[in-house]
Amino acid sequence: MCGIVGYVGSKQACPILLEGLSKLEYRGYDSAVVAVLDGEKINVQKARGRLSVLSNMVDGGKSVNGVMGIGHTRWATHGEPSDVNSHPHVSSSGRFAVVHNGIIENYIPLKKRLMEKGFQFVSETDTEVVAHLFEYYYKGDLLEAMTKVIHRVEGSYALGVLCSDYPDSFVAVRKASPMIVGVGRGENFIASDVTAILAHTRNVYYLEDDEIVMLSASGVKIYNTDREEIKKEIFRVNWDVSAAEKGGYEHFMMKEIEEQPKALRDTISPRIKDGKIVLDDISLTSEYISSLKKIYIVACGSAYHVGVVGKYVIERMCRISVEVEVASEFRYHDPLIGKGDLVIVISQSGETADTLAALKEAKARGAHVLSIVNVVGSSIANASDSVLYTWAGPEIAVATTKAYSTQLAVIYLIAIYMADKLGRLENDEYSRLIEELNTLPDKVSKILENKSEIQFLASKFFSSKSIFFIGRNLDYAVSLEGSLKLKEISYIHSEAYAAGELKHGTISLIEDGTLVVALATGDKLYEKTISNVKEVKARGAVVMGVTTTHHEHAEDVCDYVVRIPDADELVLPSLSVIPLQLFGYYVASLKGCDIDKPRNLAKSVTVE
Ligand code: AGP
Repeated sequence: MCGIVGYVGSKQACPILLEGLSKLEYRGYDSAVVAVLDGEKINVQKARGRLSVLSNMVDGGKSVNGVMGIGHTRWATHGEPSDVNSHPHVSSSGRFAVVHNGIIENYIPLKKRLMEKGFQFVSETDTEVVAHLFEYYYKGDLLEAMTKVIHRVEGSYALGVLCSDYPDSFVAVRKASPMIVGVGRGENFIASDVTAILAHTRNVYYLEDDEIVMLSASGVKIYNTDREEIKKEIFRVNWDVSAAEKGGYEHFMMKEIEEQPKALRDTISPRIKDGKIVLDDISLTSEYISSLKKIYIVACGSAYHVGVVGKYVIERMCRISVEVEVASEFRYHDPLIGKGDLVIVISQSGETADTLAALKEAKARGAHVLSIVNVVGSSIANASDSVLYTWAGPEIAVATTKAYSTQLAVIYLIAIYMADKLGRLENDEYSRLIEELNTLPDKVSKILENKSEIQFLASKFFSSKSIFFIGRNLDYAVSLEGSLKLKEISYIHSEAYAAGELKHGTISLIEDGTLVVALATGDKLYEKTISNVKEVKARGAVVMGVTTTHHEHAEDVCDYVVRIPDADELVLPSLSVIPLQLFGYYVASLKGCDIDKPRNLAKSVTVE
């Protein structure tokens, strides 16, 4: 997704913009730009490809003068990656420069109207319409022009706008795309997320939709669309800068895999007081929980896979029907949902367009929306009725690991909390489950101590053309995540399959040497899965089994066995996923893939 950084202060802007954009590289992009106002002129520098190309072009920022500017990394949606399509888009008079993250859904009719009025377009992008709209509406008042522009455009946007008539200030606004405002001493910032400006300030405003911000060196003013100034609370970001740095690791992904014990502890511990789960952040009363007929879990990608685990866990513990759907499907099939239903929305970034849209669809139908989010103040968090944050810290690698794990932990907390409220847990069972949660971080640490075992297995299979992940129930849910981890960073084709379903077609794909990763961690279905292992072995498959320490005979059937510590079946997903994360990482590393920034992917998919 596109990244935006803006600066106004007393220092040279360009080096600060480049540094901020470098912190947003993980969002995925194909071109980079800076636009700096130097006296009366907006100096625009554009470069295709990596940010380093732009940085070299402007000598690390030294060759561009000016103390106010905006920067942008573009993830192409309309128009191929090129200089003419990259932002900022400059209005015909050169007075306005606009950077944008999102999609202007009505840009075609607007472009037509503007061309009828004589405006010349040079790009294929939707964003260029915004630059010309500013030209069209501007009568000397930048704030007024901004309100008129956002009244005309439809869709999603985070906009940063320079105007050469305003040498000391610039404006910004967001709707459904992320943007924060950094408040410094004699300098102020905008950015797509906190990591871009954390080196300069920890004080941020989280903008709501259509809140317009005007920034100057001396201060920040925020307005509503009636141009009335509004007062907002400043948040103090408590991450340390290193949390958003690699910290000596070769890739953010491995750093974040290793951070999982701490992320789990930070997410679980504050919510267990005197042996009881305390979810002060939300209000799920016993009466409300007892009234629930159905729970929906809606998310995308790995967050959806957490939802699949959530279905098994919540239904087993609470005996409440749970439906899990990918957000892009949920929002378009006229879901049977209404007042009294609970919708749990899961998102690491809190900005995924499909998930945000599904959330709004659920709310419009009267459902109560509880979101599980990793980014404070994100669009999904702000739009929810209640939020349970995962305290995983900034997750930079595109392939999620610690956020996935902490989302699982929050699902367990919700399930145990609700089961307890429903009177379905005896005291000793409740205490045992709390102990299971408290010991999870150490068990994950124990698995991480044996990384080399997984690295060895990756060395045997990194040339595979296709790899299957199979399991039953919770093991199937984790198979989904293991398969996605592998394919999204190693580009090896992979499928996750319910082990019992293989014989209904897919087993025809198994041939000599095909690697099948079989998750057989639960006791109840262990033998069933082992029989599926025998089925694929009989057709030439090589099987890597993932199981717990007490299933001693797994070696009799599997070619390789990866063992995880014993735990209650309900929390085993938090353990069995770790070897799969590592396997995907090491396979991708051996293939020389760009692990933190896989091709075609972005960390937060803020467009449909
Ligand atoms: C997972 O590794 C991927 N990065 C992707 O599937 C991701 O989980 C999905 O895009 C949802 O993102 P979100 O959690 O930020 O909403």
